[in-house]
Amino acid sequence: MTIFTSQMPLLLLLLLSVTTFHKSMCTNHTVVRCNEKDHETLLTFKHGINDSFGRISTWSTKKDFCAWEGVHCDNITGRVTEINLIYNHMEGDMNLCILGLEFLNYLDLSWNHFDVIRIPSIQHNITHSSKLVYLDLSYNYPILHMDSLHWLSPLSSLKYLNLSWIDLHKETNWFQVVSTLPSLLELQLSYCNLNNFPSVEYLNLYSIVTLDLSENNFTFHLHDGFFNLTYLHLRDNNIYGEIPSSLLNLQNLRHLDLSYNQLQGSIPSTLGNLSSLNYLFIGSNNFSGKISNLHFSKLCSLDELDLSNSNFVFQFDMDWVPPFQLSHLSLSNTNQGSHFPFWIYTQKSLQVLDILSSGISFVDRKKFSSLIERISFQILLSNNLIFEDISKLTLNCLFLSVDHNNFTGGLPNISPMAFEIDLSYNSFSGTIPHSWKNMKELRVMNLWSNRLSGKLPLYFSNLKQLQTMNVGENEFSGTIPVGMSQNLEVIILRANQFEGTILQQLFNLSYLIFLDLAHNKLSGSMPKCVYNLTNMVTIHETSLFTTTIELFTKGQDYVYEIQPERRTFDLSANSLSGEVPLELFRLVQLQTLNLSHNNFIGTIPKTIGSMKNMESLDLSNNNSVTFLGYLNLSYNNFDGRIPTGTQLQSFNASSYIGNPKLCGAPLNNCTRKEENPGNAENENDESIRESLYLGMGVGFAVGFLGIFGSMFLIRKWRHAYFRLVNRVGDYLYVTLIVKLNSFRRN
Ligand SMILES: *[C@@H]1O[C@H](CO)[C@@H](O)[C@H](O)[C@H]1NC(C)=O
Ligand SMILES: *[C@@H]1O[C@H](CO)[C@@H](O)[C@H](O)[C@H]1NC(C)=O
Ligand SMILES: *[C@@H]1O[C@H](CO)[C@@H](O)[C@H](O)[C@H]1NC(C)=O
Ligand SMILES: *[C@@H]1O[C@H](CO)[C@@H](O)[C@H](O)[C@H]1NC(C)=O
Ligand SMILES: *[C@@H]1O[C@H](CO)[C@@H](O)[C@H](O)[C@H]1NC(C)=O
Ligand SMILES: *[C@@H]1O[C@H](CO)[C@@H](O)[C@H](O)[C@H]1NC(C)=O
Ligand SMILES: *[C@@H]1O[C@H](CO)[C@@H](O)[C@H](O)[C@H]1NC(C)=O
Ligand SMILES: *[C@@H]1O[C@H](CO)[C@@H](O)[C@H](O)[C@H]1NC(C)=O
Ligand SMILES: *[C@@H]1O[C@H](CO)[C@@H](O)[C@H](O)[C@H]1NC(C)=O
Ligand SMILES: *[C@@H]1O[C@H](CO)[C@@H](O)[C@H](O)[C@H]1NC(C)=O
Ligand SMILES: *[C@@H]1O[C@H](CO)[C@@H](O)[C@H](O)[C@H]1NC(C)=O
Ligand SMILES: *[C@@H]1O[C@H](CO)[C@@H](O)[C@H](O)[C@H]1NC(C)=O
Repeated sequence: MTIFTSQMPLLLLLLLSVTTFHKSMCTNHTVVRCNEKDHETLLTFKHGINDSFGRISTWSTKKDFCAWEGVHCDNITGRVTEINLIYNHMEGDMNLCILGLEFLNYLDLSWNHFDVIRIPSIQHNITHSSKLVYLDLSYNYPILHMDSLHWLSPLSSLKYLNLSWIDLHKETNWFQVVSTLPSLLELQLSYCNLNNFPSVEYLNLYSIVTLDLSENNFTFHLHDGFFNLTYLHLRDNNIYGEIPSSLLNLQNLRHLDLSYNQLQGSIPSTLGNLSSLNYLFIGSNNFSGKISNLHFSKLCSLDELDLSNSNFVFQFDMDWVPPFQLSHLSLSNTNQGSHFPFWIYTQKSLQVLDILSSGISFVDRKKFSSLIERISFQILLSNNLIFEDISKLTLNCLFLSVDHNNFTGGLPNISPMAFEIDLSYNSFSGTIPHSWKNMKELRVMNLWSNRLSGKLPLYFSNLKQLQTMNVGENEFSGTIPVGMSQNLEVIILRANQFEGTILQQLFNLSYLIFLDLAHNKLSGSMPKCVYNLTNMVTIHETSLFTTTIELFTKGQDYVYEIQPERRTFDLSANSLSGEVPLELFRLVQLQTLNLSHNNFIGTIPKTIGSMKNMESLDLSNNNSVTFLGYLNLSYNNFDGRIPTGTQLQSFNASSYIGNPKLCGAPLNNCTRKEENPGNAENENDESIRESLYLGMGVGFAVGFLGIFGSMFLIRKWRHAYFRLVNRVGDYLYVTLIVKLNSFRRN
């Protein structure tokens, strides 16, 4: 049956040939008559559907229902036997009156967008469903809800049931209902928000061979009772206890996923008897004890293995040659010792190798090289301390993460099909290889914090798909490349030796949300027209699904984060000059704006008041950028000392009212206790960094009442410090430790 879903063309062909044959019979009213009841039931079902894509338009135009899209009839009786509407953009009601079709044996409504499931009322009880063998209502989005499964009871022939992604949390008797289905072989209830797992005496899974209860909210002790399974998927619940011995006696078990639970104890070596096993995921539990060759002694079919996030003590013999060849191996966050595990070198067909954060420093150069060149899909080696020169290699994977190691020498050659490469935080040196010019699929390039030098190659304009380009904290020189990908969302050139002017092109990138050119030798004026950075003006969709990336600059300044919802514009510490273009203050989605340490001149316009997302603003150390006439920091519960000898003293005390922990002129003198952590004299890197962390995640409001009284609100302060303009050239800090409770906007 499953063949139908995976081989749609074949199915359609089949339907076509059978149904056209029927059409003639039906309309001719000679051989068989169209069944009135089936016809009526189908129309009732159709009535609730919102078919805005016209996928079942044949349901109105054609007289013979056997010729309708997705309907399949018996070729002798002309009665409906199958309905398959997978992937058809159906919306509206999923009316289960369809189960009233007397001869229906196959129903697949998965991968649609039905809004609600209608269960026929008592008067229209489902009485004719005993022929149904296959029922799949899974993967409808947004999530469907169902209060009860009692309607399943008459389905005595049901062998395959898939209700994944239907919210069933109100059905506390799901197991009792399911266990009365006498023929059930496969049960898929993943992401159903189920809470209630039955106690042992109710367990009756004799007939079931495939059981998927993953991604629910079960809390139970794993016990005996899985009688005849070949497939058990319990990923991501709150299952505790030890692995019961009965589970490891299931000689036919092929797929076992217990990952992301709270299982404990050690793994019995009888695991090694499960010779049919090809998928074993037991990582992310609280297992302990030894894992050795014995655990895998007969697992000759094993294909995918996940032991990650665990405290196992790995004791594989140095010369162990496993009986299997894996395609997928995850050992991340385990303790592998300082040597790369030898047995992995024997794996000839790995597609995914995930061994990040596993304490590895040493590899066998020759074997390691040949291994990672073979891997065809993903290499995750991040957060080890591997010291190796891989410049001669050609890596064939599509996703490469070798960041936070100590790779040296030149950059390796990488597959032209690669999607994402992260080589940050290593000791790579030299220039970007010529062979990279063919990476036309590349989305993410991260070379942050290496010792790379030379110019960025001209062929960067070939990398048309590039969305994130991070070459910061290196020794690159030359000018910013022209004609870069229009898809760029993140550009980081920070802390290099780039020179020349900033081209207008850079400000025409409509997806850009993060631009950091700080700490270079750029000169000239800022292009006037920044308004084409439309993603900084209004938020539109970004493809940046990556979670927060934290980048630490070498030694000073601060940690900064890239998140899809944060907008950053940083040109600080260059030799830029001329007027600050007024358009800049119309990039109202900006959270961080830093123009400090340049030679800009200009006035900040009142439109700055509409930059309501601003969290960090630094215009200090410029020639002459005069700030607002009136400052109001009142009622923010700021903490610490107001820096002395600054423009801040020129505002009167009422600007600071409502900040009981703030001290120093023009307020009261500070006592020693109050001086930390915002002490301006004490502003070395460590204390700044400390105060940054302290400030993270709290909210506060600060009002700058400009000449026209516009209110300037700052929310979600993360950097916990705020630099203001200063002609003298001192750094000015107000350290702001804010209590969320006293958060006010006035
Ligand atoms: C019956 O079907 C045949 C074949 O499709 C067709 O040639 C014939 O005209 C039909 N007869 C009637 C009465 O519709
Ligand atoms: C049908 O679906 C379309 C597309 O989602 C929607 O615009 C329309 O309002 C829906 N109609 C009804 C009657 O629900
Ligand atoms: C009817 O269908 C059966 C299988 O369901 C097939 O073996 C048979 O050849 C078909 N008969 C006709 C006339 O198409
Ligand atoms: C419908 O089903 C319910 C519950 O299964 C049952 O109590 C009721 O008697 C049935 N009604 C009819 C008309 O069959
Ligand atoms: C639902 O589960 C059945 C087995 O019960 C399986 O054959 C089918 O592929 C699953 N459907 C989807 C959409 O994954
Ligand atoms: C998960 O189950 C626990 C009790 O076991 C319950 O308190 C919690 O609300 C459930 N969570 C969800 C999302 O249903
Ligand atoms: C277990 O499954 C096999 C086939 O997979 C079947 O022959 C056997 O009868 C089943 N055992 C039980 C106890 O149901
Ligand atoms: C399972 O493995 C253990 C050793 O790991 C062995 O003693 C036992 O005989 C095996 N049982 C079966 C049924 O193969
Ligand atoms: C893991 O198991 C140990 C005992 O083996 C226990 O002390 C610890 O609390 C468990 N941790 C979690 C997160 O359950
Ligand atoms: C990385 O390698 C360099 C030699 O290239 C060495 O000086 C440095 O100490 C290493 N760093 C670490 C963290 O091992
Ligand atoms: C801004 O973008 C528009 C449309 O893409 C383009 O026509 C215009 O020339 C751009 N502005 C500048 C100053 O390049
Ligand atoms: C603050 O201290 C200075 C001396 O450091 C003193 O002259 C001044 O009167 C003090 N001001 C207040 C308000 O205590």
